[in-house]
Amino acid sequence: MDNLFSLAGRKALVTGAAGGLGAHFARTLGAAGAQLVLAGRRIEPLKQLQEVLEQSGVTAIAVSMDVSDRASVGAALDAAQQRLGVIDIAICNAGAAITKPALKLSEQDWDSVINVNLKGCWLVATEVARRLVDAGCPGSIVNVSSILGHRVAGAVLPYTVSKAGVEQMTRALALEWARHGIRVNALAPGYIETDLNREFFSSEAGQTMIRRIPQRRLGNVQDLDGALLLLASDASRYMTGSSIVVDGGHLQSTL
Ligand SMILES: NC(=O)c1ccc[n+]([C@@H]2O[C@H](COP(=O)([O-])OP(=O)(O)OC[C@H]3O[C@@H](n4cnc5c(N)ncnc54)[C@H](OP(=O)(O)O)[C@@H]3O)[C@@H](O)[C@H]2O)c1
Repeated sequence: MDNLFSLAGRKALVTGAAGGLGAHFARTLGAAGAQLVLAGRRIEPLKQLQEVLEQSGVTAIAVSMDVSDRASVGAALDAAQQRLGVIDIAICNAGAAITKPALKLSEQDWDSVINVNLKGCWLVATEVARRLVDAGCPGSIVNVSSILGHRVAGAVLPYTVSKAGVEQMTRALALEWARHGIRVNALAPGYIETDLNREFFSSEAGQTMIRRIPQRRLGNVQDLDGALLLLASDASRYMTGSSIVVDGGHLQSTL
């Protein structure tokens, strides 16, 4: 029972690990014993996190990866696999959002969000799974979705469409890859406080939004630890195609 959530001996990729949720996910997985591949477009913040992790005794490497580009994903995974061995946990966390009313969206706005959130998640999950199948290894893929994959909000059309797509992709990939021992689940956070949104949530509009959350508070990154470790580890060995919502009850807010 003690070791149910242990990730000792496991190799975990976290995309979008430079800050926000991704950096915290990396620290949490590292503390549970995983060796880490920190991925994103900007290498400097990844190297800084790598240093911090290594100071606490966690093995980590930083790789440059654009999740929307198959060649970039493949090259980063090959480099990581050469150094650590086969990656058997993938946290598909890289994400982007554009806030604009639907009638103001350009084609470029649409593509930039869909390419990172939906295509990027597909490419990373597929390239990780391909290497697991080739090596005959089981694995766990965790797609970071959102409560906006379950319900809608104004002025975030491509984001909400992309996250609904991630939810459906999670189920479809779970179905196809169960035979290979690869589990695919989604983690759907509600509103989590990070450096990027802290200022907004302290404004009057932000405070009004928080009052609509049944628990009357924003989530913090630590609130995601339980669900993340459950899905990444063998504690969820009979779960695949599931989505865990961590939102203080926000999806149940009154209509
Ligand atoms: N914060 C919340 O309240 C919340 C709620 C629900 C869901 N989420 C989801 O949680 C995930 C992380 O969100 P966050 O709040 O931590 O956002 P964030 O701070 O903006 O982080 C996004 C990360 O994605 C990386 N990224 C963006 N485009 C990329 C690309 N093409 N290739 C590789 N990496 C890319 C960015 O790094 P580079 O720019 O260096 O590439 C950055 O590290 C996202 O999927 C988001 O939708 C967040």
